[in-house]
This record gives sequence, structure tokens and C-alpha cells, in this order.
Amino acid sequence: MGTDKITTAMGTPNIALIKYWGKRDNTGLNTPNNSSIGLTMDENLSTKTSVVFSDKFDRDRIYINGVEEKIEGRDVPEKALYTKKILDHMRKLAAVKKKVLIVSENNFPSSAGIASSASGAATLTFALTHALNLKLSHKEMSIIARQISGSACRSLFGGIVKWNKGVKNDGTDSYAEQIVGEKYWPELVNIIAIVDSSKKKVSTSAGHSDTVNTSPLYPSRLAFAEDGVRKVEKAIGDRDIDALSRLIMRDSNDMHATMLDTWPPIMYLNDSSKEIMYAVYELNQSQKSGKYIAGYTFDAGPNAHIITTESNKDAILKLLSGISGVKKIIISHAGKGPRLLKNDDLIDAKTLQPKIKSDGS
Ligand code: PMV
Repeated sequence: MGTDKITTAMGTPNIALIKYWGKRDNTGLNTPNNSSIGLTMDENLSTKTSVVFSDKFDRDRIYINGVEEKIEGRDVPEKALYTKKILDHMRKLAAVKKKVLIVSENNFPSSAGIASSASGAATLTFALTHALNLKLSHKEMSIIARQISGSACRSLFGGIVKWNKGVKNDGTDSYAEQIVGEKYWPELVNIIAIVDSSKKKVSTSAGHSDTVNTSPLYPSRLAFAEDGVRKVEKAIGDRDIDALSRLIMRDSNDMHATMLDTWPPIMYLNDSSKEIMYAVYELNQSQKSGKYIAGYTFDAGPNAHIITTESNKDAILKLLSGISGVKKIIISHAGKGPRLLKNDDLIDAKTLQPKIKSDGS
């Protein structure tokens, strides 16, 4: 391995069309109770991550959006603990002992239901794989990224991606695979309406297990979601926005219903999210063709992802302009998945310290 060589990668979120909610294993394997399927977005929403291994470091450090995150010792959040575990695992695979500096930035709100942890964990796995010269396939990388943040396994691939839940206890059959590439359905667009960019109050780590442990509705979700994955695959095969819209709205509602059914209740949606749900429903109902033109979906946050096609984009933008809670709109198409970047490092090559932006972050 080259000494003190900085490796930088860019990756993007994968927004679930049929959601993963609830873990079969919550001891670090992050195997899910149901399969899921999602859309990897383009670089309008992206994570950039630089990593460098060096003998000059006496400990591992991770900076996310300008702030150093604790990854060792007491009171470490679950995802940070898993990040450290994966880091040690990959270092062992590469027979490397050096400590690492990781610097990562998102160009979109973190922990607000826009799959920032998926994007972050996938980009980190990709960057570490290359920095350590590990010859891992995308499938192998997806198994590693899954162990930091489950949904991250889908962000390792471009286009539309399925995460097979798997049945094995060691998690080796719980991996992501590409269904179609990013060029397959170029008209497909995700219009993201930001209604609140603050960090969610209930982390997904806590949410997954609270729902599994307490929601009486949850068991019925599993077969529904599995069927949803099959039907969404068909709708994508047919490039059928009517079927896709109906399926993703029902799945998003179903996941949020089990969240509300959890004790203590989990409520990620706010009044603006609900206003968007009604408005999209009414727009679809008003179509003379009887065909739906758009579907909403919400992750673990109040921000809406409205999946539609280019020809209906303006109708959705008009709809959103009538909703006062919408603070910002981001438009994203299918993206390619993670890639390496050249000459764009977040680490200073001379000092081996994070580059500090002019705003101090
Ligand atoms: O990957 P996690 O543990 O942050 O869970 C994310 C789950 C959802 O985003 C709500 C759904 C999904 O499939 O991405």
C-alpha cells in the first residue's frame, strides 16, 4: 500500500421505493426482516469522503461535515461503533496496521430522511476498499457497508437496486444487486421537497428495534413488503409510473403506520409531509386517463421524495409551490453509484489534516 496516499470517493443516497424497516439481526450484522428496493440518486445529492492511512497517526479519526465523531470508548452511537468494527475488519483483510483519518461531507441535510447514512457508509466502504487495495466486488462491498447502515448496501450500485434479505445467520446472502442501470429509465425523476432539515429525534437504529419489539402491526408488514418488492420490480420492468406510484405510496404509508404503532410511538412525518401526501393523491385522482403520474415516499424523516417522470415534473413543482412548508426543492435522477475522485481531497496532503473550509466547518 502506498504511504500516506489520500483516496477520495463520491457516492450518493439510495432512496427506498419499498422500505427496509426492522432487523433480523441487531448485533451488528444488520440483516433485515424484509427485502427492499431503491433508487440510487445522481450527484445532485452526494457524499464526498477522503481517507488516508498513516504511521503518523496514533488513533483513528473521523470527521463528518466538519465535526469530529467519537468512534471509540463509552457512549458511542451504534453506527459509529459499527463503522469502527468495519474499519478494523477491512484493515485486517488488507494486513494493514496504520491508523486512519476519514473526512466526509454531505452536500445535503444529514439524518433528515434523505438516506445520508446510507450514502456515507457506502462511500466510506468504497473509499476504504480502494485505499487498502482490497479487490472486493460490489456485492462484497455491499455486505460490508450493510453492517454500518443497512440501507447503505443499496448505495453501492447505480440505477435501481434490490437488497435481498437473505436467510443465513452469518449474513453472507444478505446483499444488494442492481436491477437496472441508471440509463434504463432516464425520464424517472425524484423531486425532493425539504420541509425540515433538522436532525431526526429518533435514530433509525433505535426505531428498527422498537418497532420489531412492540408493534402489533409489524408482522403483517413483512409479507406486504416482500410482495411490494416483486411488484415494484415488475413496474420498473414495464417502465410503468402508474403502478410504481401506487406501490411506493402504499409501502411508505405501511412503514409509517408500523412506526406510529410502535411504543413509544415514532412519528417522522410532520404537517407539511401530510399536506404533500394529500396533494399528490388529489393530483393523481384528477388525471382524466385514470392513471397515476407520481408517488410520494418518505424515509425516516418528514421530507418528501416524489417519484415521477420528466413530462410530469412541472405539475409536481406547481403542486409544491402551493405548500407553504416546502423550504427547498432538490431534483435528482438515477445515478451511477460511487466513484473515485482525483484532485478533490478533503485532506491536506502536506499536513495530513482535514481541510478547513472558509466558513470554519
Ligand atoms: O439503514 P438504516 O438503518 O439507517 O435504516 C434506514 C431505513 C429507511 O431509510 C427508513 C428505509 C430504507 O430502506 O432505506
